[in-house]
Amino acid sequence: ATTCLHRSRTPLGSSKEMARQAAFTGILSNASDYNPDFYNWNKVKVRYCDGSSFTGDKEEVDPSTNVHYRGARVWQAVIEDLLAKGMNKAKNALISGCSAGGLTSILHCDRFHQLLPADANVKCLSDAGFFINVKDITGANHAEAFFNDVVATHGSAKNLPSSCTSKLPAGVCFFPQNEVQQIQTPLFILNAAYDSWQVIIRYGTSWCQRAPILSGEAAGTT
Ligand SMILES: *[C@@H]1O[C@H](CO)[C@@H](O)[C@H](O)[C@H]1NC(C)=O
Repeated sequence: ATTCLHRSRTPLGSSKEMARQAAFTGILSNASDYNPDFYNWNKVKVRYCDGSSFTGDKEEVDPSTNVHYRGARVWQAVIEDLLAKGMNKAKNALISGCSAGGLTSILHCDRFHQLLPADANVKCLSDAGFFINVKDITGANHAEAFFNDVVATHGSAKNLPSSCTSKLPAGVCFFPQNEVQQIQTPLFILNAAYDSWQVIIRYGTSWCQRAPILSGEAAGTT
């Protein structure tokens, strides 16, 4: 709750703090030279605001902070709004995202597919969203503890794919390694082998200080 309250006052938690404009680059670019496959598609960028990859769904509001844990309802509302604006006639649809948004693209992949017209060609692309479940160099598993806290705080369990939560504790269902085999919709995973955020945050060190140890661990776990 403490970190969520903090986040609610940052661009990752409040539209009041977000930049007024976002550049459409990369896969969102309208330049055919740079983005030959998608330059002329209808494109929507959904701002990340909930801290749970759009899985939160708690009715009760914490009276001490007034923080609402309802990311899944935000996601549902966004998709319904877009369907009403014409996405209900889509022939092709691609959901993508980076980092926590890449994780969203995995966790919501099949649900996105189900909300689109039955004859639509739907796919998912996760960019840097394949968070790995590893111990850091002290032997502690902060990644798993973190996702367990997200599930408890946000009430995420009911919005994670039931194909995983029926078999495993909800916290570990945030890890794509436990999700991807059951996903029915075509899913493309883009992830750098040397994803610096994961190396620093997950292992608790920087690559250059610990390269010999990490190369061995990474070879065994990724
Ligand atoms: C691409 O988008 C920019 C910004 O909206 C616009 O100024 C430009 O004309 C667009 N280019 C093409 C080729 O549509």
